[in-house]
Amino acid sequence: MAPLLRSSKNPSIWERIRSDETTKLRLKYDAYYHIFEEQTGTRVKKEGKEYVMLSSNDYLGLSQHPKIKEAATDALQMWGSSTTGARLANGGRIFHRELEEELADFMGKEACHVFSAGYLACASAITGFIDRKDLIFADKNLHSSLWSGIQLSGAACERFAHNHPEHLSELLATEDPKVQKALVLEGIYSMEGHIAKLPALVQAAKEFNTFIILDDAHGVGVLGQDGRGTADHFGLTDEVDVICGSFSKSFSGIGGFVCSSQDGIDYMRSHSKQTIFSAALPPAATAGAHAALKIFRSEPEHRERLNQNLSRYLSLLNELGLDTWESESPAVPIVLGKKEKVYYFWKALLEKGVYAIISIAPGVPPGKDLIRTAISAAHTDEDLDIIEEAIRYAASKV
Ligand SMILES: Cc1ncc(COP(=O)(O)O)c(C=O)c1O
Repeated sequence: MAPLLRSSKNPSIWERIRSDETTKLRLKYDAYYHIFEEQTGTRVKKEGKEYVMLSSNDYLGLSQHPKIKEAATDALQMWGSSTTGARLANGGRIFHRELEEELADFMGKEACHVFSAGYLACASAITGFIDRKDLIFADKNLHSSLWSGIQLSGAACERFAHNHPEHLSELLATEDPKVQKALVLEGIYSMEGHIAKLPALVQAAKEFNTFIILDDAHGVGVLGQDGRGTADHFGLTDEVDVICGSFSKSFSGIGGFVCSSQDGIDYMRSHSKQTIFSAALPPAATAGAHAALKIFRSEPEHRERLNQNLSRYLSLLNELGLDTWESESPAVPIVLGKKEKVYYFWKALLEKGVYAIISIAPGVPPGKDLIRTAISAAHTDEDLDIIEEAIRYAASKV
């Protein structure tokens, strides 16, 4: 156990909590933890005022889809609210197996395990495969769930410059060939909207015999045939060892998954504490995710509409000369550089009835303070007109 840090300067825990500057700043800006009283499609109401939602990860707009609602309701009626147990123990049900088999097949892998949160799934995608003796190579801009998994794995970690295959290669070349190596990356980076340069990154990894873990929380549903994700988009599914993701984006639900070979999933089920000691995905959430998966395959119109909406939105941002950090996906940042600018832009959007979110350093690299927006297939032409007017107004003000 680490030695106790005792010092007369140490404030009490409550003193530290009450004097915390980060919390004070957050409360001052009042930009987070908002509560909406109502939602109809892409419209939300806050304190009686209606906003068009412009930052949801509901990329395909399925959260109100009748087939998903019906599947979730039926599962709730039939199975109840929860299986109240871990999968290892008493929590597993036939509906978990059915979703896992279909999702594994969809993702081009032998096996799958579903979790009650994407965060747990992505942490498990690391702790379930990586040992403390291994060496991890991580993109600098990974999601927090992956950093948690890296820390919990106990492995040493080298960070490479964001989406930079040459830097990855340089780092890999300097390491001991006898050490087992793993690459951790995302398919679509949620803040930047960048698509991973997967062909070059995979090539670098393979040259040095490196295990590959891909978090495709934002790629599945959006990229690849029928929405099979980033690895499928590049034809590299077989080269990637583990693919994890979340049901809270295009699946419009809650939970997450890890797909790999059968040996890999069996190993994760006996080694990852996040897999072993956490309760199973509830019936309604499992049925909802399964219904969404079927919709990915059978209703391509949602992806088509998403692409149409995205191209109208990107043309507007380009016309106004706004910096979108070269986003190539429906996650579109508007980089403004300074937090004051971000704040005034965001306020102007709210004034005009559009809700987006703010992301400032240290959440993003210094100088990249931004408004994080996301386009959905559910945005109607009228929504897009409101968004256009609001963005023009905000851009003229800032
Ligand atoms: C890249 C990435 N991985 C994992 C997660 C975790 O998913 P969830 O929020 O569904 O737990 C997120 C969520 O924001 C994410 O963006």
